[in-house]
Amino acid sequence: MRILLTGSSGQVGHALDSTLRSLPGVEVIIPQRTQMDLSRLDLVRDTIRDIKPQLIINPAAYTAVDKAESEPGLAQTINGDAPGVMAEEAKKLGAALIHYSTDYVFDGSKRGSDGSLLAYTEQDATHPLNVYGSSKLAGEQAIAASSCAHLIFRTSWVYSGFGKNFLLTMLRLAKERDELKIVNDQWGAPTWAGWIAQATTDIVRQLQQASDTDAWWAAHRGIYNLTTQQYTSWQGFAQEIMQQAVGLKLLDKAPVVSGIPAAEYPTPATRPVNSTLSMQLLNEHFQIQPPLWSQALTDCLRGINTEQAAQ
Ligand SMILES: NC(=O)c1ccc[n+]([C@@H]2O[C@H](COP(=O)([O-])OP(=O)(O)OC[C@H]3O[C@@H](n4cnc5c(N)ncnc54)[C@H](OP(=O)(O)O)[C@@H]3O)[C@@H](O)[C@H]2O)c1
Repeated sequence: MRILLTGSSGQVGHALDSTLRSLPGVEVIIPQRTQMDLSRLDLVRDTIRDIKPQLIINPAAYTAVDKAESEPGLAQTINGDAPGVMAEEAKKLGAALIHYSTDYVFDGSKRGSDGSLLAYTEQDATHPLNVYGSSKLAGEQAIAASSCAHLIFRTSWVYSGFGKNFLLTMLRLAKERDELKIVNDQWGAPTWAGWIAQATTDIVRQLQQASDTDAWWAAHRGIYNLTTQQYTSWQGFAQEIMQQAVGLKLLDKAPVVSGIPAAEYPTPATRPVNSTLSMQLLNEHFQIQPPLWSQALTDCLRGINTEQAAQ
């Protein structure tokens, strides 16, 4: 299978670059940025026509959530229009597209009658609160409109031992400060990029093994939530990072992590209070059981440990 992979310098793309290569009979092609800058739709189109992939996997995105508020046009082109072009070209080639989206397509107001948080399903109405979320929703809609064979995985709170993310920021701040104040009234499932890559690769394996790929796509195409099990606040995530990092000897000591409301940490982009996503559909279609978010954190931190020990 000839796979065109974007965003290999990002968290999910970097992880996919290695997990996809573990599949037999897979050729992974990673175009240079100059060949496939997603802000240049003509380049995106030409490069797909040159490479003629059987599957496009697109974790590349404009992910600077706050900066997007002042660059809505660029965010729309990269997150909204480029995935649509990929889908159109995939359709023409008889290829398929795997794309990633976000919990930020929702406004986070979903609650039960008792006021408790309820996890969003794939069928819930979308209502983004910020430019980034609107641009990612536009990408989902453009892909669906193309009617190409596709899977869209909505994920949340992505981190890894690589790139720019909350985990690595916390590990750095832990070495610099004795106390951290972290938001305690937004809730979600921290999701290790390595797990997203593993689950995606498992699903590509299922596709490879399908005796009738048209029937497989007819049964499975669409949107799926793809995070980890259970949820926490940013403060809870930070506390768990500190505890595990000390246990794994990545840190000598942990700072005190106290909670603050998001209102005391104003950002240009408004973020949803409830980012929790149900994974029932993912499990029903692909028999995938996501790990607990805290277990996935351990798996990620063990990798960081090994990398550091090797240096
Ligand atoms: N990060 C999160 O917390 C989060 C949460 C929910 C959903 N998601 C979604 O999950 C997916 C993967 O996110 P991630 O965290 O892996 O992202 P990331 O680490 O920020 O990586 C983004 C990737 O996109 C590439 N990219 C950006 N602009 C580009 C352009 N104009 N042309 C070509 N490539 C471009 C980047 O390349 P450079 O390095 O060269 O800029 C990088 O490789 C995205 O669809 C994102 O929207 C992420």
